[in-house]
Amino acid sequence: MILKAVFVVTVSALLTISCEYIGQSSGHCKPTTADVLGPYYYPDPPKRRQICERDSAFRSSVHLLVRGRVLNEHCRPLQNAKIEVWQADHGGHYLFKDKCRGYLMSGPGGHYAFMTIHPGHYSTDPKRELFRPAHVHFRVVIPGYDILITQMYFKGDPSLGVNDSCSRCSSDKKDLIVDPERFCADTSGLYCFEMVTFDIVLRAGNGSDVVKDTDDSSAELNDIVLVGK
Ligand SMILES: *[C@@H]1O[C@H](CO)[C@@H](O)[C@H](O)[C@H]1NC(C)=O
Ligand SMILES: *[C@@H]1O[C@H](CO)[C@@H](O)[C@H](O)[C@H]1NC(C)=O
Ligand SMILES: [Fe+2]
Repeated sequence: MILKAVFVVTVSALLTISCEYIGQSSGHCKPTTADVLGPYYYPDPPKRRQICERDSAFRSSVHLLVRGRVLNEHCRPLQNAKIEVWQADHGGHYLFKDKCRGYLMSGPGGHYAFMTIHPGHYSTDPKRELFRPAHVHFRVVIPGYDILITQMYFKGDPSLGVNDSCSRCSSDKKDLIVDPERFCADTSGLYCFEMVTFDIVLRAGNGSDVVKDTDDSSAELNDIVLVGK
């Protein structure tokens, strides 16, 4: 019941906000910075708009609405882009086949939106001195454009940039860092969700992978050992 109420609020917020974009459909948009793929990508995730809903912490967590538009370099919307997303669960684990992963398609105006929970922290540092900042992985595919592989980060995370245990990751890049806005149904603080806007700009191309480092399999590989404990 509570979840439903939050979702209704969410959808009306979305509709209101999408109108603000009208009139911003030409110009120059910088292609989104690529990032490492990491070892947890699995092809063909299920289609869903709610990621991590089977996480045991889903009900008690602050939900996160991730929304934005898929655009080309002329800032024109791209409809029907396939957006694959995956992330660590609440506890910082990836050892699941499809709990916190899925795909969705961009709609009219290039808009997309999905609900999830805040991704947990984990380390790729064998000494566990450094951690990865919370992040959501994205892989975005549409014919006529290069495939973008990237990660979305959160402003204020103490593990961004030089403090990221993955030194080859792009957590120092401003265009990948979102600033969550918090919305609450009342003043109790019990019925709240956060919203972030993450616009994705694709570069015209022949469908090759745009990934920061194609030899990326070791960048997050220690996760497997560490989260397995
Ligand atoms: C990295 O961590 C140090 C110590 O915790 C902190 O002072 C610094 O602001 C952090 N740097 C970034 C980019 O977050
Ligand atoms: C696709 O484009 C990339 C550069 O964006 C180039 O390196 C690659 O050779 C191209 N592949 C084909 C099949 O044309
Ligand atoms: Fe990751």
